[in-house]
Amino acid sequence: MSSLNKVKLISLPKILDERGNLSFFESRNHLPFEINRVYWIYDVPGGEIRGGHAFKQQEEIIVALSGSFDIVLNDGMDEKKFTLNRSYSGLYIPAMIWRHMENFSTNSLAFVAASTMYDDSDYMRLFDEYKNTINDRS
Ligand code: TYD
Repeated sequence: MSSLNKVKLISLPKILDERGNLSFFESRNHLPFEINRVYWIYDVPGGEIRGGHAFKQQEEIIVALSGSFDIVLNDGMDEKKFTLNRSYSGLYIPAMIWRHMENFSTNSLAFVAASTMYDDSDYMRLFDEYKNTINDRS
């Protein structure tokens, strides 16, 4: 089974209000992991690509709080692209999925909640290393 099947778009709560809408998420209630860190990516110049790695342990959810961008996922067998452009929709990505982010619109804001604190040794930055690890496990 492709690991991409574990990736899912999560519809977040949306409190509609004529004063302005509100969305949120909570560990356990809306996410399949406990949040240990949040970070955000902003001011991305046109044409730039972020990511280009997999995490050994880290799970995360990515929300386009503003604007839009594409997330391209690869599990060593299949590739899938998600366009995020709604602030009430989060893409859940489990560990051990190769990803990059591209096609950022002007003023886009990518918000990420992660299951782990920052740890450089959790990164796999070489696609060949990632693919070999996947193949060794299967
Ligand atoms: P990185 O995750 O490589 O960015 P991207 O995948 O979007 O290209 O992170 C870029 C730099 O920021 C890198 O030097 C590590 C640092 N960083 C932190 O210190 N803490 C964090 O939580 C994150 C996500 C990155």
